[in-house]
Amino acid sequence: MNNTDLPIDEKSVVISIKNLKKSFGSLTVLNGVNLDILQGENIAVLGRSGSGKSVLIKIIAGLLKPDSGSVKVLGQEVDKISAKELQALRLKLGFSFQSSALYDSMTVRGNLEFPLVRNKRNLTKKEVNEAIEGVLDDVGLLDAINQMPSELSGGQRKESALPVP
Ligand SMILES: Nc1ncnc2c1ncn2[C@@H]1O[C@H](COP(=O)(O)OP(=O)(O)OP(=O)(O)O)[C@@H](O)[C@H]1O
Ligand SMILES: [Mg+2]
Repeated sequence: MNNTDLPIDEKSVVISIKNLKKSFGSLTVLNGVNLDILQGENIAVLGRSGSGKSVLIKIIAGLLKPDSGSVKVLGQEVDKISAKELQALRLKLGFSFQSSALYDSMTVRGNLEFPLVRNKRNLTKKEVNEAIEGVLDDVGLLDAINQMPSELSGGQRKESALPVP
């Protein structure tokens, strides 16, 4: 059975947002957002510039705090968990910034290696290399592994800024 045919229950809901509100001063950006994203679903959030798409994703990733409402990711309320729990949860989230967050002075390999080594200290050098080469191969960028971000196209920069699982 396809996941989309399943009844919505806690098990299949990966991201659950209820009555989410966020304002900056007098500017109301999110005014009661409700959204359930199920395992295996691909969701695109559309809206004009400044309508709050990035604010929504930053709240999901725990980078911004909601004013009210509930945001659960993999069953955990991102606003209520400790910094350590949030860090562990972030390792399970893929997040690409709107402007690719690459270190200009590091090669593509260096950019992928830095967070991987920092966050998963138990990986061997071989495992790190395999993970990096695997993810670059997946997006057709293996040949660019030793290139600097300035040598990549905009699309390639975004692809190489995706986190290594
Ligand atoms: N940290 C912040 N402090 C104050 N205002 C903010 C902050 N972040 C976003 N905003 C405001 O919230 C509104 C929504 O911004 P957001 O970045 O979510 O837009 P967006 O939908 O992603 O737009 P775009 O399509 O241009 O990327 C904008 O008016 C923006 O100025
Ligand atoms: Mg945006």
